[in-house]
Amino acid sequence: MIALASDHVGRSLKEEIKTLLDEMGLPYQDFGTDSEERVDYPVYGARAARAVASGACERGIICCGTGVGISLAANKIHGIRCVVCSDCYSAALSRQHNDTNMLSMGSRVVGSDLGKMIARMWLTMAFEGGRHQRRVEQIAALEEGKAIE
Ligand code: RB5
Repeated sequence: MIALASDHVGRSLKEEIKTLLDEMGLPYQDFGTDSEERVDYPVYGARAARAVASGACERGIICCGTGVGISLAANKIHGIRCVVCSDCYSAALSRQHNDTNMLSMGSRVVGSDLGKMIARMWLTMAFEGGRHQRRVEQIAALEEGKAIE
């Protein structure tokens, strides 16, 4: 299950992502917003992030105008590694090296075709583990307030 969320600005891109997920046969849950009414992106970023952090959803895709604000909110939730992406290379490497569990994109930054291409790449690539595992664990240790050196 893929958690989806957006603010009012990112909603159009989120709707495009739904068509991609339908094409890929991946189920999703939309945590809002579902209208053009102005809302606060942290509320929606946190909803999707909590669903991923709890294990209710495996991964999440979130959108706002830039992708930045909603990703900052998501990354405040324990266990979330959310990447803001506007290119396919970063999307792929964020999975392979950083094991990102959420993807954030900006509807004012990427068009629907590029947004779907980025999301497809991110959904397809797998974490490589190996030397990258230790680094992801170090990030988790930082989240716990532990020293890593
Ligand atoms: C809303 O105007 C805008 O600030 C929001 O969508 C996002 O870009 C924030 O980072």
